[in-house]
Amino acid sequence: MFTLSALSNLSRPVSIIGGIIVFSYVAIISAPVFAEPTTPGPIVASPSADRQAIRAHYERRFPGIPVEAHKDGAYAIDKKAGEQWLELEDFPPYEIAVDEGEDLFNTPIGDGTYSDCFGDGAVKGQYPYFDEDRSEVVTLELAINDCRSKFGQPTLDYKGAEIVRLSAYIAFVSRDQIINVAEPSSQAALLAYNDGKRFYSSRRGQLNFACSSCHVQLAGNRLRAEKLSASVGHVTHFPVYRLKWQDVGSLHRRFARCNQQVGAEPFARQSPEYRNLEYFLTYISNGLPLNGPAIRK
Ligand code: HEC
Repeated sequence: MFTLSALSNLSRPVSIIGGIIVFSYVAIISAPVFAEPTTPGPIVASPSADRQAIRAHYERRFPGIPVEAHKDGAYAIDKKAGEQWLELEDFPPYEIAVDEGEDLFNTPIGDGTYSDCFGDGAVKGQYPYFDEDRSEVVTLELAINDCRSKFGQPTLDYKGAEIVRLSAYIAFVSRDQIINVAEPSSQAALLAYNDGKRFYSSRRGQLNFACSSCHVQLAGNRLRAEKLSASVGHVTHFPVYRLKWQDVGSLHRRFARCNQQVGAEPFARQSPEYRNLEYFLTYISNGLPLNGPAIRK
């Protein structure tokens, strides 16, 4: 049904029969950071070289659009959809989630409060980070559950409504902070970063697509009614209120959706795989402002 061999030769137009994708123009990427993946080999580029290469790619791909503008995802590159989206922002449907998140944030947890762990809540810019003692990536959601455990309270389900509302509130009060993930320097931090990077460029699923196939090589092309957004803007605005979900959802929920979209098994939210992926994506987005929560189709 699908003829996908064309994706391994990105210099010619790709047509995928089956009503899923018709691309009329395909960008060629030469940056080593997302060179066509086959089997994962040794990764030699430093994180800062990766970041520069990916920024340069999007600057070439979208002349006149500053890299920072990708914080608005597909709406940065699709003017018409962007106008409709701005109208939605007049009465943002995520406001209720932010209010509920604020109430939850101010509700005591055992003998403590979330403020004991997160002050006034404006902390999103500090996550994710690589915790050298634990030797793992700590995301905001993980830290929320750590805070609960500290006060003897049960952890929240990562698929549940409560944690996404707490993170919507924290995202809201952290708006305009600039993403600034520390350069992975220890061996363990580099392993986590490279794991996320490899995940991003590994093909999977029945369609045999990598994240980078759609969001790097094909960014700006249409997939059904949507333009494919650039990865550098992927972490700035979560959780998002998706019209399709009729609710706010987390970044890892979106990762899972994009895995399923190509016929691949999703990983669990807050799994090491998705946390490493978030670490990699956030590092390459350094310099972009946080603007969550946001609305997406
Ligand atoms: C077959 C193409 C395809 C693949 C492969 C794919 N995505 Fe997506 N992704 C989309 C489409 C379509 C959208 C919605 C339009 C947009 O924002 O790009 C989307 C949206 C997203 C968004 C939300 C962007 C926003 O502005 O809110 C994130 C984050 C994302 N994808 C991450 C990933 C990750 C991580 C992977 C790999 C696991 C991946 N995608 C693989 C097609 C793809």
